[in-house]
Amino acid sequence: MAFPKNFLWGGAVAANQCEGAYLEDGKGLSVPDMLLGGNVNTPRTFLPQIDETAFYPSHESIDFYHHYKEDIALFAEMGWNVFRLSINWGRIYPNGDDEEPNEAGLAFYDSVFDECHKYGMEPLVTLCHYEIPWNIVTKYHGFYNRETIDLFLKYVKTCFERYKNKVKYWLTFNEINIAMMVGGGLGDLYGLGLMQDEDINSTERIPLNKLKHDDQQTLIGLHNQFVASALAVIEGHKINPDFMIGNMIAHGTMYPLTPNPKDMLFVQEMEHNKNDYCGDVQVRGAYPVWARKMVLDMGCDPSFMDNEEDAKILKEGVVDFYTFSYYQTSCVTTKTDVEMTAGNMSYRAKNPYLKASDWGWQIDPDGLLYTIRVLSDRYPGTPLMIVENGLGAFDKVEEDGSIHDTYRIDYFRPHIQAMQKALDEGHKLIGYTTWGPIDLVSAGTGEFAKRYGFVYVNKHDDGSGDFSRSRKDSFFWYKKVIASNGTDLD
Ligand code: BG6
Repeated sequence: MAFPKNFLWGGAVAANQCEGAYLEDGKGLSVPDMLLGGNVNTPRTFLPQIDETAFYPSHESIDFYHHYKEDIALFAEMGWNVFRLSINWGRIYPNGDDEEPNEAGLAFYDSVFDECHKYGMEPLVTLCHYEIPWNIVTKYHGFYNRETIDLFLKYVKTCFERYKNKVKYWLTFNEINIAMMVGGGLGDLYGLGLMQDEDINSTERIPLNKLKHDDQQTLIGLHNQFVASALAVIEGHKINPDFMIGNMIAHGTMYPLTPNPKDMLFVQEMEHNKNDYCGDVQVRGAYPVWARKMVLDMGCDPSFMDNEEDAKILKEGVVDFYTFSYYQTSCVTTKTDVEMTAGNMSYRAKNPYLKASDWGWQIDPDGLLYTIRVLSDRYPGTPLMIVENGLGAFDKVEEDGSIHDTYRIDYFRPHIQAMQKALDEGHKLIGYTTWGPIDLVSAGTGEFAKRYGFVYVNKHDDGSGDFSRSRKDSFFWYKKVIASNGTDLD
């Protein structure tokens, strides 16, 4: 079955995971610039001062900053009509609270968007993909502080005004639910730019899973982010009524591990807490009925929900479409003695029916169909878009330079078939951007070795590599899929 004629096919990256050039042309430090690499067994670490002797994966990354023309040409060769990327806030306002924007940063994205349009590719722009300026973390405690709403709005309006004729599709915050999903200091830092003073002032390296955390602050930070996102939608529509402004949720679909009704209830509560709490506010414009009790059960004070002015903003600033990342599913249970496995920055019960990637993420294409059905029922009429999906794997370069990544093709094929089934059932799915269509730095582990790309990049975890690009087998496969509009998946 062919996909709809105007279906959006492409790939997705984040500035901090591909651009490099971390201080070039006036860019300021942002959160990922402070993080060292880890791997599947060792968490990434943080140091408040840059250690000049250490290797920071995002500082050079894959150097998209200097290779974007070559990279966008490769994306065009695959036939994309959409490219999801983020603007790095710190390129536009290096400290987050500067008076004037940085013209060199603005000019860079002008060139990137022009390059996309040259090939008939629509940019889909994430305004904040874990890239909060470091100064906003240390001086304001991220979104825990309401002042950060204004700083974000200023940055967003600058982007909307500047690119109003070049960008139509926008997303406010990447995986806005990550702080709920992860439930610790790691989620606070990535999602909210929130870190406790004791950690900010530490002189020791801190593993990210050991960062300090306070649930109440997380909930207030998220509330402020909901308001910031809604205000961005409102302002964006004033600047260009044709803008399509969406949210972005890390959809952690969960199954009960056993048919015990207690597990069934538990999975429902977990879905509410991890996925729906954020999604409902952004799509329906209000906290769901169970939210107050959920917050109380977390031992927190829900009075942040009572601000009438905020409630009006949330109602008015609902998103135009719902986007989500989908990599894997997991199980939850009230039992404690069960085997666990890793997922997207989370750790839950292992599903005995599923195989997993080398990083433990359980591969579940049926779960994608299930997720689309759930979201389509939950938010009737709201267009859905999958803006991240893919397989992080070790790739082997053959002597002749070829890379036979059949495992990646085998991952994508059934996921695309799941989308076909969803479309056949009538669900409003408008597009698909795979994650990391070109190898880049892993957000979770900071590795280069965890490769997602159709395009291989010669760059490695010891810092070696010449940044040269080459096409993997999956490159030619995805090109064929797009050319046939989803009918040729062989
Ligand atoms: C999502 C993020 O959580 O998953 C991306 O939006 C991230 O930034 C992707 O890279 C894959 O996760 P990882 O940890 O394998 O890079």
